[in-house]
Amino acid sequence: MNRHRMIKTIDGISDLPTLPTVAMAVNSLLQDVDTPIEHLVDLLEKDQSIVLKMLRLVNSSFYGFKSRITNLRHAVTLMGYSTVQNAVVTVSVIDSLKTKNALKGFDISRFWTHSICVAVMSRHLAAQTCLAVPEEAFTAGLVHDIGKVVLVNHFPEVCLSLMETAMDGNVTFYTAEKTEDTYPHNLIGSNLARRWMLPESLKMAIRHHHGGIAQGVDGTLPGLIAISDTLVNVMNNLPGHRLIPEIMPEAVRGPVTGILKDSASWFPDVKREMAAACDFFNKG
Ligand SMILES: [Fe+2]
Ligand SMILES: [Fe+2]
Repeated sequence: MNRHRMIKTIDGISDLPTLPTVAMAVNSLLQDVDTPIEHLVDLLEKDQSIVLKMLRLVNSSFYGFKSRITNLRHAVTLMGYSTVQNAVVTVSVIDSLKTKNALKGFDISRFWTHSICVAVMSRHLAAQTCLAVPEEAFTAGLVHDIGKVVLVNHFPEVCLSLMETAMDGNVTFYTAEKTEDTYPHNLIGSNLARRWMLPESLKMAIRHHHGGIAQGVDGTLPGLIAISDTLVNVMNNLPGHRLIPEIMPEAVRGPVTGILKDSASWFPDVKREMAAACDFFNKG
């Protein structure tokens, strides 16, 4: 199936993954930076399951808040809107997409392990380079490949063919998508992000995590996700991935190169964080 037919089909699919109503409303509400704190708290309180999961996340060992946060108002005051929104997106995306898997041969738990590892790596690089807000980098890393979930569930035969092309040619999944000229997972993902009313920064990170950023557009977060994605894939010896300075996204190349030179000093900690994060989400 070619790219145009896929685009048409996606537009007509009525059961694309959805976010819980409250999570969508939070995204919509926080498009306005002047939203009063009471409005956000009132809204979130309508979905206690999201509140509980969110508090569990921000208090988890790998999420990085030193003091214990026990109630919603305290969380919103202490963490700020953006961190709250990222936590809400994180828990609700995981909930919405975790159980779906209609394709034999696609290992959904491996997919989530990859996403979680990219999230942890992105947050680490963001914190070390001060190029992005760490919690936002975490969320962006977690959702960067969500388009693949749509592919698996709605275009299983396209997905199988892409996996075969990647395997046979020893190339990345994204290269296979270009070879077969299908609607690529980064664009499917940003399409979904738009429906979910995710913040622009997350939408851009999903859309451009394989490059292609236009001049004059901020490529920092997409660049951090691209590097983290490659690092995690190199770590797992996946075919077609390599990390050389010349192909690193320009927006982040300088600061990230410095951090990578010193990787021996931080990598064991990051690996432990990845294991803790995988454990956390698998229990959730
Ligand atoms: Fe990707
Ligand atoms: Fe990825």
